[in-house]
Amino acid sequence: MLSDNKIEKIEQHVNLLKDKPGALLPLMHAIQDDIGYIPEESYEPISKALSLSVAEVHGFVTFYHHFRTKPSGKHILQICRAESCQSMGSENIESYCKEKLGIDYHETTEDQLITLEPVYCLGNCACSPAVMIDDEVIGRVTEDKIDDLIQEAKK
Ligand code: FES
Repeated sequence: MLSDNKIEKIEQHVNLLKDKPGALLPLMHAIQDDIGYIPEESYEPISKALSLSVAEVHGFVTFYHHFRTKPSGKHILQICRAESCQSMGSENIESYCKEKLGIDYHETTEDQLITLEPVYCLGNCACSPAVMIDDEVIGRVTEDKIDDLIQEAKK
């Protein structure tokens, strides 16, 4: 059940953006930036305000990897899966992270500390493979660096 505070925030964003052309995308960004994800409870008010079906809103949210439909952990670890990073071994980093954290993409560790997400280029191709934890981009990632990141996140 969504808190009244979150419902209020969603309504504020909807009211602020509903009349702008192409409002759906900025609205999704605003909601996720504010409360961390796009709750299912937001689909109906959004669909009413933008004259869309709930299924269309749901389809939009789930189409874009960027949008989360569940609350994230305290830290978000994003692994670049784009071409340059792939050519420099990001698949190994990806497997290592999944194994080490015991989760797959779009999942959060049991202790609610880390959410793992894929990302498609962090603009750091010259230092591939790259990951981003919260707002920090890290290049030339190795398994040891991943261990350090996870240790740091646990502090
Ligand atoms: S391809 Fe990974 S940072 Fe650009």
